[in-house]
Amino acid sequence: MAAAREHWGSRFGFIMAAAGSAVGLGNIWKFPYETGANGGGAFLLLYLLFIVIFGASLILAEMVLGRASGRNPVGAFRLLGGGAWPGVGYLGVFTGFVILSFYIVIAGWTVAYMGFMLDGSLMSSTPEAIGAQFGGFISGGVTPVVLAGLFMAATVAVVLGGIGKGIERASKLLMPVLFVLLLVLIARAVSLPGAGEGIRFFLVPDWSKVTGATVTSAIGQAFFSLSLGMGALITYGSYLPKSTPMPGSAAIIVGLDTMVAVLAGFMILPAVFAYSLDPAAGPGLTFVTLPVVFSQMPAGTVFGFVFFALLFVAALTSAVSLLEVVVTYLVDETPLTRRQAALGAGLVCFGLGVPSSLSQGAVDIQVFGMDFLSAAAALTDLLLPIGGLLTALFVGWKLGPKALALVTDEGRQAFPLARVWLFILRFVAPIGIAYVLISGLI
Ligand code: PFF
Repeated sequence: MAAAREHWGSRFGFIMAAAGSAVGLGNIWKFPYETGANGGGAFLLLYLLFIVIFGASLILAEMVLGRASGRNPVGAFRLLGGGAWPGVGYLGVFTGFVILSFYIVIAGWTVAYMGFMLDGSLMSSTPEAIGAQFGGFISGGVTPVVLAGLFMAATVAVVLGGIGKGIERASKLLMPVLFVLLLVLIARAVSLPGAGEGIRFFLVPDWSKVTGATVTSAIGQAFFSLSLGMGALITYGSYLPKSTPMPGSAAIIVGLDTMVAVLAGFMILPAVFAYSLDPAAGPGLTFVTLPVVFSQMPAGTVFGFVFFALLFVAALTSAVSLLEVVVTYLVDETPLTRRQAALGAGLVCFGLGVPSSLSQGAVDIQVFGMDFLSAAAALTDLLLPIGGLLTALFVGWKLGPKALALVTDEGRQAFPLARVWLFILRFVAPIGIAYVLISGLI
């Protein structure tokens, strides 16, 4: 806590970095397959509902905690709350660690798929053969583990360089490019013959498919996609200069993240139906159906490669934020240097990722009746809303009116919705999240 804390170079840079954290595998890989497995439009509506009701308010709450304290999640709760509150920060750091452990596995798959696109091995295949190649690859043992390790190394390399120009500059360049590419791919997907059924599936709710588990998945997905409930926004917020207006930034981050998820749905689900694939196929959906689309389009090799490269980059900016939570915590709270923290945390986290990778077919590793990777993902789907609930209680009740002063910079910034925000944090979010979690568990 010695040296002055680094700051983002500009508000735009912060927004792009925070959006880089939010936009990742959760939007492009997880959201479409969760939607496919959970009744299409019904899942979309629940997801949007949770984002509007809790998501935006909680993002802002985390940013306020970060900027007001200038600390990592544990330090922020200690400084502003004391007592047992730092426990919420510890929960967040732990959750980030677990997410990163399986995140690198999926991200490693994107590296392999860049290769598959370049060598053309998927280009003349049938959908069935493309599916079989995916199954063979993820159950292959060593290669996916090595790729996860390489991805972790890339993540560590970025974090070693610090929060400043590396993350910020890369995000400012890559986020707009990702967005343009999504539009190109959607244009292709929705013009496929037979795409209409997929669009209908995505937009028209089928409530008969909705169970308690669906609702829990939707809230977990909302939190995961927004990087919410584990202190990522506290961490990034802790590098904000004092004068940055926060409510508008929070709204933009939420808007961008939601837009990319919805666009990814429009990109993938119509293609699933156009080729009579199974929308409920699960985690393999993106890695099977998109290559099918690419194999059909002119210059598909190029589009396919660029897509997986960009998915890789989207995953990288998210993984960087996950590791940064752990590293900022270690640097703030222990004598470790950034270098030691990044290397150590990266190595230990990779160790936890190995069983996740192997559980995809190479070795039978079950936890709670699920393979290790799915169990880690399900655990975080639970921990993130719990972290969000506790954050809402903290800002809403423990800080209370003080939060209004913090969010408006002691009244210097206008925030007409300040009281609505506080009301959501006090009542709507805690009661709503608790209700969804409890009813989902029952
Ligand atoms: N929001 C990321 C995604 O959608 O892929 C995942 C994530 C990143 C979750 C950072 C949590 C976090 F702190």
